[in-house]
Amino acid sequence: MPTYDDALEEYLRETFAIEDDVLTTIRENIAARGLPHISINPEDGRFLEFIVAASGARLALEIGTLGGYSGTWIARGLSDDGRLITIEVNPEHASVAASNFRLAGLAERVDIRVGDAHQLLPELKTEGPFDFIFIDAEKMGYPAYLEWALENLQPGGIVAGHNAFGHGAIVDAADTRERTEALRAFNRRLAEDPLMVSLIFPAGDGMAVAVRRK
Ligand SMILES: C[S@@+](CC[C@H](N)C(=O)[O-])C[C@H]1O[C@@H](n2cnc3c(N)ncnc32)[C@H](O)[C@@H]1O
Repeated sequence: MPTYDDALEEYLRETFAIEDDVLTTIRENIAARGLPHISINPEDGRFLEFIVAASGARLALEIGTLGGYSGTWIARGLSDDGRLITIEVNPEHASVAASNFRLAGLAERVDIRVGDAHQLLPELKTEGPFDFIFIDAEKMGYPAYLEWALENLQPGGIVAGHNAFGHGAIVDAADTRERTEALRAFNRRLAEDPLMVSLIFPAGDGMAVAVRRK
């Protein structure tokens, strides 16, 4: 559900969110290995790379790796000595991601943790606080992931959540599915936290993003 029309989306992609050969190959590998077509789109990727670079982030965390497409954009935005930890519950997805990070020359800087994020996050506290946290796993988990992220962000750190529009469901009053309610709760929590400056950036399916006040 683009918030702009198809021609503008095309213009954006052609002008600013051009995939290089590595990103195109990563996307093709993800499809060829039979993973679902649920990676972020290139505009989201460029936006993540931009905010990671603009904030000077060194330590990033991603929840929901899939095949490593978004992780590649994020890792490219990090400072030269930056590191990304990315969590994936599905070992097959993690294996595709590992080969894609090698292809991108990022194997040394990206650390894939295989397991359920709800179980792994408590242990990860000791490795933080984080400069950047990207949430893109199961939607029902978003509120819990956000609570963890808010507790484990550096001052000046940024948290982002993909699919903040829920493909339009969040403004459909008749849609009371648990996943939709989880997204509404996630957005409301971010919007109302006085410690955060937040918004939904209207690329693709909406990228909720918030910076922690210093
Ligand atoms: C939307 S995809 C992530 C897409 C990826 N961020 C990208 O754009 O390239 C969601 C991923 O989260 C994983 N996932 C779902 N529930 C999870 C959980 N509880 N812990 C860790 N990963 C989970 C799924 O297996 C899937 O690979």
